[in-house]
Amino acid sequence: MSVYEEIISARDQALSSIQNVADLSNLVDLEPALFGKKSTLGSLKGLMGKLDASERASVGQALNQAQKEVQEAHQQSKKHFLEHERTLQLSAEGIDLTETLRNPNHRGHLHLVTQTMERLEDVFVGMGFTVSEGPQAESDWYNFEALNLPEAHVARSMFDTLYLDLGERTEIGDGEGGEATKFLLRTHTSPVQIRVMESQEPPIYTVCPGRVFRRDTADASHMPVFHQIEGLVIDEGISFTDLAGTLNDFTSAYFGGAIKSRLRPSYFPFTEPSAEFDITCVICEGSGCQTCQRTGWIELGGCGMVHPNVLRNCGIDSEQWTGFAFGFGIDRLALMRHGIKDLRDMYTNDVRFLSQF
Ligand code: PHE
Repeated sequence: MSVYEEIISARDQALSSIQNVADLSNLVDLEPALFGKKSTLGSLKGLMGKLDASERASVGQALNQAQKEVQEAHQQSKKHFLEHERTLQLSAEGIDLTETLRNPNHRGHLHLVTQTMERLEDVFVGMGFTVSEGPQAESDWYNFEALNLPEAHVARSMFDTLYLDLGERTEIGDGEGGEATKFLLRTHTSPVQIRVMESQEPPIYTVCPGRVFRRDTADASHMPVFHQIEGLVIDEGISFTDLAGTLNDFTSAYFGGAIKSRLRPSYFPFTEPSAEFDITCVICEGSGCQTCQRTGWIELGGCGMVHPNVLRNCGIDSEQWTGFAFGFGIDRLALMRHGIKDLRDMYTNDVRFLSQF
């Protein structure tokens, strides 16, 4: 056999052993026999020294060519096994999402807070109100200043505010006349009142539901994120009795005729006079129980006549127009209505809890 024939036969042997390999570890085991000094091609290389100078160049070329072909076949095979392993791994780790379809008759439903919010909107729309929305990240102007709460006003401590760090972009203007202002997560839905009064001519009858934020630690009755609904009425000749009547109508429309509302004097910077409003305890209907601490009443929210400064800040003539505003927490309302003891249960997303409502 000539040396060239030996090279060809060594190459063919190497190629067929690569073809016969069953997996990656088999291939790795084969590597010394393919590329090692003692491999057939390797030992042929060792013979090079004994050849005539005239033959050395062409034999060397034939050897290199054979070795290149073996290396390529080895690479191909390695790639194939790696891809195969990856496919196996992916199918083993994959999650079969179709399993949630096992019971095709089971349908999800809206979260209790969303249901409550939608029912509240329906009741107010039925009373002639529109629904307005605004941004959750607000400027200091809309959340505080325009609401008659200038910087350093003591009543700002009523709201544990989460301020936004805008880094370089502190110069953005959304204050009075586009002036630069601080930004925060709105602490109440009252900034939506300001946006509505700025952009719409009175008469205004609107409610603003939405998510609000305060720097509170989560406990049985507090969450740093919760929901409020706020009402705003601006018209000619609106008086405090309209406020009291509207709240009473709303209370019976939402809770049923047995539930009444009452007002107690209070203070808010954006309303004057201001009041806190209570409703008949929905659990005991007024006879006294644990929820209402035996008073027969539960506190729902705040309200009052819109302060003339607030009207002025929105370009509304406070001699011609007057109005009232009220606001209350939606999560708390849902909590009371369903006798839920811990607010946190509404947000831990345990389906066994949520599917009850
Ligand atoms: N914005 C007030 C709060 O979050 C509630 C309120 C709304 C009070 C409107 C009066 C009028 O506490």
